[in-house]
Amino acid sequence: MMAGAWVLAAQTRVTLHVDATKPVHPVSPMLYGLMTEEINHSYDGGLYAQMLSNHVFRTNWAGVESWGLIRNGNAKASATVDKTTGPSAALPTSLKLTVDAASMGNEAGLSNPGYWGMVVRSHTKYAGSFYAKVDGDVGPMTARLVSDATGAVLAQAMIPLHASAWSQYNYSLETGAVPSVSAANHLELTVAHAGVVWLQLVTLFPPTYHNRPNGNRVDLMEMMAAMHPKFLRLPGGNYLEGDTLNDWYNWKKTIGPLVDRPGHMAPWTYWSTDGLGLLEFLEWCEDLKVEPVLAVYAGYALKHELVKPGKDLEPYVQAAVDEVEYVIGDVTTKWGAERAKDGHPAPFPLNYVEIGNEDWFDTSGSYPARFTQIALALRKKYPQLKLITTTPIKVSREAEPDVLDDHYYKSPAAMFDLVHRYDDAPRNGEKIFVGEWATRSGSPTPNFGDALGDAAWMTGLERNSDLIVMASYAPLFVNVNPGAMQWPTDLIGYDAVKAYGSPSYYAQCLFAAHIGDAVVKSDMSGAQDRFFTSATVSEKEHVLHLKLVNASNHAQTLTMTLDGAKAGAAKMWSLHAASFAATNSITQPEVIKPRESTIAVSATAMRHTVPAYTIEVIDVPVR
Ligand code: AHR
Repeated sequence: MMAGAWVLAAQTRVTLHVDATKPVHPVSPMLYGLMTEEINHSYDGGLYAQMLSNHVFRTNWAGVESWGLIRNGNAKASATVDKTTGPSAALPTSLKLTVDAASMGNEAGLSNPGYWGMVVRSHTKYAGSFYAKVDGDVGPMTARLVSDATGAVLAQAMIPLHASAWSQYNYSLETGAVPSVSAANHLELTVAHAGVVWLQLVTLFPPTYHNRPNGNRVDLMEMMAAMHPKFLRLPGGNYLEGDTLNDWYNWKKTIGPLVDRPGHMAPWTYWSTDGLGLLEFLEWCEDLKVEPVLAVYAGYALKHELVKPGKDLEPYVQAAVDEVEYVIGDVTTKWGAERAKDGHPAPFPLNYVEIGNEDWFDTSGSYPARFTQIALALRKKYPQLKLITTTPIKVSREAEPDVLDDHYYKSPAAMFDLVHRYDDAPRNGEKIFVGEWATRSGSPTPNFGDALGDAAWMTGLERNSDLIVMASYAPLFVNVNPGAMQWPTDLIGYDAVKAYGSPSYYAQCLFAAHIGDAVVKSDMSGAQDRFFTSATVSEKEHVLHLKLVNASNHAQTLTMTLDGAKAGAAKMWSLHAASFAATNSITQPEVIKPRESTIAVSATAMRHTVPAYTIEVIDVPVR
């Protein structure tokens, strides 16, 4: 079916001339990637598939959040936090369940509602584990997945317990047909005899992406894969820094068995379990076939606390050098061997290391010295690495950064004004990494006005991809349940059951899936202000990828001349909405989605109209 009108146009004032035979410069092969951190319940209650909330029994003023005491029938029991015993030095406390009376049908135990609910699906195997210490003969523990609405038991398993000091127990729960898929379910762990049981680190996983133990949600991984990313910037963002010096991303405490991970206070107001730790970040990269862009801690905390460069910074310099060894060292190195012990003998690829995050906030002026100290240590051992500074700095030649990380969070109007930011930027300094960017007005996820801002911005990224080596939108994720979000306007939204892509998500999928290896010569004249284009050619595929973004409320008609184009059919994907405010949501996830069509291309001048508020990506075959 032909869509759009491509007819010979004799005269019109607005022209776009693209010469697909004239490459101007290569497109950076790593241009589009992902940026991630623990924010908006991105991992706990998000990507990290572990289903139970507060599974390490942390307390606050309200007690032990998430866990309920079960006393069926005439069972008598109480539950308290015991600060004197736990399964490991990292987890030295536990929940003590004291059962004074219980029997079959009158069980006592604990329940957990998951993170804003827990989805239970038909014919699915869930894998769980817990640590327990048992006093007396409480009999077996029963694990059940139970429907909140009906009380129906959806899956059940008996786990024999032995009277002993701390031991780990595994269990598995398999469902039959589940009448309706919802988040209104919970887990119950009960016993039917009197006695005392201490519990810690109770976990439950659904099937994960690539079936990784301790792995990630399948739907979110698939959505990221569809973005065609080339890298993942990890672990933050503010999450790298922490609010205070105590809260820095101390990666050594995020690796190894879960029982040896204490977790830490994340800057976005909640505790991070570090179940998704450094190795899991790297495996996430491996699963998506992308390369990590590793940010190492540089001694600055968000509340303006500082580690002085020099002797005080030395332990952090060593931590950074060790971290790189954990990522790329072979198994004969100390930290490479540690990674092998953790289950991954093969080193990961690594080319870029970022030192710190947004150090322009450090008004003391210490960043150049902190950067230099870490850069020199990294360069000495790993001269092949490209080092990224988080703000422009003047340092000695040996410490000079290869790349500068720029961040932009803008309203749609401000983003349109920024599109040409790099067109005339100097090409003789460091390269640019736009490590965080987003057009922000929608909440929790971007609306169509934001998608137009993003698409316009991406035309600038592509046009300047000789200078801009990488770019990543932020933040990537938001759990849309009330109370889960700290930062509005996040690319992908989800709850326990499902996930959806914002209009901006679809714009990024389109841009990254249809990009060539060279920017080609292109000139436009006479177009309205809010009209933006990008033209790249894929030499291998013989395709001109043309992107047209009309962010105006008026249609834009163009006379286009595409030198080198083959006359005939071209595929077009368009993303359109009637207003800036139009959007997708968890209840209406597909209001705005790319529509595919075919259009006729002429080898000579042709007229094409881009409707108001429309993003078009056209793959034109070239000779
Ligand atoms: O993306 C949200 C936050 O914005 C990041 O953590 C921080 O680097 C920036 O200020």
